[in-house]
Order: sequence, then C-alpha cells, then structure tokens
Amino acid sequence: MQQGLKNTSYFENKTKARLSSIDSKGDSMPYRYCFVLTNACNLRCSFCFQEKKPIKGSLKLDNWIDIASQLPYGSHITLTGGEPLMFRGFKKLVENLRDDITFNVITNGLLLEKDLVDFLLDQNGLKVLSCSIDDVGNKSRDFTADMWEKLISNLNYFKDKKNQINKNIVLDIKTVVHGGNIDGIIPMAKFSSHELGSDTHMFMFLKGSPMQHSDIMFDYGYALENNKGFENYEIPKVINEVKKLKDLIKSGFTKNTKFFLHPKFVDLYTNQDIDIIEKFLDRPHHNPKDFMPCRSPWVSIHINNDGNVFPCLSFSIGNTYENTLKEIVNSQKMNQFKEDLEKCGTLPGCKQCGYLMPKETYLV
Ligand SMILES: C[S@@+](CC[C@H](N)C(=O)[O-])C[C@H]1O[C@@H](n2cnc3c(N)ncnc32)[C@H](O)[C@@H]1O
Ligand code: SF4
Repeated sequence: MQQGLKNTSYFENKTKARLSSIDSKGDSMPYRYCFVLTNACNLRCSFCFQEKKPIKGSLKLDNWIDIASQLPYGSHITLTGGEPLMFRGFKKLVENLRDDITFNVITNGLLLEKDLVDFLLDQNGLKVLSCSIDDVGNKSRDFTADMWEKLISNLNYFKDKKNQINKNIVLDIKTVVHGGNIDGIIPMAKFSSHELGSDTHMFMFLKGSPMQHSDIMFDYGYALENNKGFENYEIPKVINEVKKLKDLIKSGFTKNTKFFLHPKFVDLYTNQDIDIIEKFLDRPHHNPKDFMPCRSPWVSIHINNDGNVFPCLSFSIGNTYENTLKEIVNSQKMNQFKEDLEKCGTLPGCKQCGYLMPKETYLV
C-alpha cells in the first residue's frame, strides 16, 4: 500500500465498505458493480463483444435506482453498455446515487454534449471518464470526419472544463488493439497524451472467449471448455510496437499520461522483457499455470439490463427481477464458480481476459 493512503477519507471509505459488505452470516458482497445500462448502441464496432439484440422488459430507471440502493456502503459503479449515454434515465440515475457511492463511465463519447459534461463534472461521485478511441480518426469504428470532429470537440470541452474547475477526475482513453490497428498504437499514444491530455490510456487486447462480459448468457459449462479462441495478431509486430511505446514513455514524450496493457502482459514501467508477450497473446489454449489465481468475482459483478447478474463470464447467477443482489451474490451458482476458481486459479473461459495477471509480471 502507498504510504499516506491509509489516512485519506478514500481509504477510510473503502475499509468501511469492505467491513459493511460482510454480514453476520458471513455473506459477502463485492465492491465494484458494473451496470450494463442498455445494450443499444449508436455504433456497430466490428470487434464488439456485445450482441445488442433488443431486450424485452429491460430494466427501467426505477429498477436501477432500486439496485443501486442495495449496494454496500462505499461501493463503486461502472456505468457502461452498449452506449450508456443512450440510456434515457442516465442523469436521473446518477442524481439518485448515494453520497458514499463512486462511479465511472465508459462511453464512445459521441453523446457527451456540453450540458452532460457540466452535469458529470458537478458530481462528487465521478472518479473516471473513459472514452474508447481505437485509432486517430476512429476508422476502426467507421467514423466519418464529422463524427471525429464531434468526438474531439466533446473531449476538449471536458478537458478544458475539468482543468478550469481543477477537479481530480481521471480522463482515461481505451484503445482496443485488434489485428488491423497495430500500426496505429504509437500515433494514438501521442494523440492521447498531447491532444487529449489523457491521464491514463489502456491498450486492450481482444477478449479471448465470447463469454467474457457478453450481454447474452451462456451455460456455465462453457466456461470449463477449452475454446480455441481467436487468432488475431501478427505477434512480432505487436511486440515491436509495444517496444516503441515503452521507448516513447521513457523519452518523456508522453508527459503526464500513464499507459497500460490490458491484460497487463507486461508492466511498461519496469525493465521486464517485452518479448514475453508471445507467451500469452493468441495462445491456442489458456494455461492456468501461467497466471495468478483470479479473485474478480469476490470483488466485482455485472448486472445486465435484462436483470441477469453475472460475475465476469456471462452466465446468469440470478436475476434482479426475482431476487435481491445479496441473495444472488451468495447463490449456489456463484459459490460453485468461486470454488472452481479456488481449485484451478483460472478457467479455460478466462482465456485472454483483460484482468489476467501473468505470474511473470506480478512475481518480479
Ligand atoms: C462494450 S463497450 C461499452 C461502452 C461504450 N459503448 C464504448 O464503446 O466505450 C466497453 C469497452 O469494451 C471495449 N470492447 C469492445 N469489444 C471488445 C473486445 N472484443 N475485446 C476487448 N474490448 C472490447 C470497448 O472498446 C469499450 O472500451
Ligand atoms: S464497443 Fe461500444 S460503441 Fe462500439 S459497438 Fe460496442 S458498445 Fe457500441
């Protein structure tokens, strides 16, 4: 733990949250809740893991407010989708969050109009705004020149207003690295740092199983099957570009932006050998021995807009229309998943999940 963190109110709140999330029966609740507010989207990114099939009877504003009211003290919510800003009750939901709750938003940024920026920057709970941009011009997302201009003008307004009011809110850029945009990593890093003034920037590799964070529910058995996954990358090229990124960081060019890979195959701020990426990327099968045991379901759950609750791999552990969050989180299905993780560390369905932690990176 960082020296000094212990005395901050942030640390105090998180400690209270952890203690209050374990009741007298020993039932525990996670700390992070990912609200998939809608599966509707104004874009159709070819690599997107969301199915976006229209859902009948999807959760309404009142349902989300009720779910938020069930969260333990000091919880953190991620508001995402589909495109979360397409959810009509977005502002009302945020306005109804308790003061002890913090949140972040993951958006494609096109609907981030000035009044919404003003509104968001006014919220004490907002900690991070993540905007997904996959290359300069967002060609990966089929952007026209007008869409690009709109996005950049939205983000510039956000940046200027945030700096003006001097608020400690992180502007995070998320880039999906797919087979087609590897040459764009360096231009994107430079753009993010110099033009957008981002605080953090994550280069995310494609998920390795269709079951990760999807909006359609699979049978749990699928998590235990070896799926061959996808083969997307020219690996030497990826390694070369990541080496260039590390050099760029070292040179000081990227100023205040902190860069990450997701999964964190290597830490860009250590002397770790970048070539190790080859051991993890696009492997035919997931090898649990390579990774630290995952504790994600103890910490974080997803709530889909059809009421289905899932840990990270999308199999339903219950539905908010039928049960309370506490009942769902402590259900037999969730306990089975936790037991399997305790036994195996990670499962075949975890292949190339962004939260994987290679032992080589974490045990240095
Ligand atoms: C599903 S989107 C929802 C939020 C919003 N529509 C956006 O694009 O930021 C959440 C994040 O997942 C990323 N993403 C989509 N498909 C992915 C995939 N196959 N592998 C890894 N990340 C992916 C997006 O780029 C985005 O950063
Ligand atoms: S990545 Fe985001 S913007 Fe793109 S289709 Fe998926 S949900 Fe929509």
